[in-house]
Amino acid sequence: VTAEKGGFDHFMLKEIHEQPKAYRDTMLGRMDESGRKVVLPELKLTQEQIKNIRNVQIVACGTAYHAGLVGRSVIEEMVRIPVENDVASEYRYRSPIVTPETLVIVVSQSGETADTLAALREAQSHGAHVLAITNVVGSSIAREANDVLGTLAGPEIAVASTKAYTSQLIAFYLFGLYLAQVRGTMTEDAVAEVIAAMEALPEQVESMLTNAESIKGYAEQIAEHENLFFIGRGQDYAVAQEGSLKLKEISYIHSEAYAAGELKHGTLALIEEGIPVIALATQEAVLEKTVSNIKEVKARGAEVMAITYEEHVAGLLKSVDQAFAIPKTLPILTAAVSVVPLQLLAYYASLARGNDVDKPRNLAKSVTVE
Ligand code: G6P
Repeated sequence: VTAEKGGFDHFMLKEIHEQPKAYRDTMLGRMDESGRKVVLPELKLTQEQIKNIRNVQIVACGTAYHAGLVGRSVIEEMVRIPVENDVASEYRYRSPIVTPETLVIVVSQSGETADTLAALREAQSHGAHVLAITNVVGSSIAREANDVLGTLAGPEIAVASTKAYTSQLIAFYLFGLYLAQVRGTMTEDAVAEVIAAMEALPEQVESMLTNAESIKGYAEQIAEHENLFFIGRGQDYAVAQEGSLKLKEISYIHSEAYAAGELKHGTLALIEEGIPVIALATQEAVLEKTVSNIKEVKARGAEVMAITYEEHVAGLLKSVDQAFAIPKTLPILTAAVSVVPLQLLAYYASLARGNDVDKPRNLAKSVTVE
C-alpha cells in the first residue's frame, strides 16, 4: 500500500507533492515554442464564437466551484467579459439567463458529478456552448460538453481534492490567455509575461514543498480549536474559501472564510480571545486594507497567521503572530501557490486529530446522485 502511495503516508500528501508535475503536464504542448502564445488546438470554439461571447457562467460543485471563483477573476481581468459563478445545484434550478452568446464553463475533476452534468444539459438546452474543464476525458461531462479542456493531474484518490484544483487553475490561466489573444485584450508582451510566470510555478511549488513540515506545528495548534476563520480579499478570498473547505472536510474543525472587508458587518462579533485567524495577504493592491482588517481581529484577541510573500513577512510580523512566506508570482497567478500551505495545514490538522485523512466521514470522492 505504501508503494501505491509512492512512499507517502497518505494519498493526499502524495497528491499535494504531485502538483508541480500536474502543472507541467497541464501546460505541456499548450504554449508555443516562442513562449509568447497559448495554443489550444483541441478547442472547437471558433474565433468567431469567441469574439461573440457576451458573458461567461462558471458552474461546478465543491472544490471545483472554488477553482471557478479564481477562474472568474482571471477571465474578467484578462478578457473584460462579465463572469458569474454558480454552484451547480443552484444553477440548474434558478432558471439561469443563458443565450447562444453565453459561454458556460463546467468544472469537474471526475466529470461525473450529477448536479454539474444536469447544469451542463440545462445550459445546452438554451443554446449555450459548454466547455468542460475536467480531469477525466472519458467521463459523462467530457462526452456531453461541446468542448473539453483536460487537466492532466493524473488520478486523484484522496477525497479532499488538491492537485485537481490547482490543475483547474492552470486550465483557467491558459484559457483566459487564449481568449485574450483572440479578443485582443492583452498585448503580446503581457501574455508572454504571464506565460513566463506560469512556467516558473512548478519549481516554486517544489521549493515550498521541501519545507512542507514547517506548517505542522501550527496545524497541531489549530487542531486544538473547534472554530477558526480565514480572511482575504480578491483572489485571496477565493483561496480562503478553498482553504476553509479543505480544513472542514478532513479535520472536522469548523471554519468560515470571510471577505476581509466584510468582517465588521457581523462576523467580528465572533472574534474572541485566542481564536485562530488565517489571513491571506498576498494581493498587493489591497494589502494595506487587509492589514487593517488583521488589526481589527488582533485587537479583539485573535491569534493571526498570515500567508504572504517573503518581502512582506517582516512588515506583517508587526501585526500578526506568525507568517508563512510563499514564493513571489504575478498577482493573477497567486492562487496556484498560496493554496499549497492551506492544503498542508488541513492535512496536518487532520493527522493531529487522528482522522482518516484520505477518507473523511460522510463524504464521497464523486457524487453521482442528486
Ligand atoms: C465531491 C468531492 C469534492 C469535489 C466535488 C465535486 O463532493 O468530495 O472534493 O470537489 O465532489 O467533484 P467534481 O468531480 O465534480 O470536481
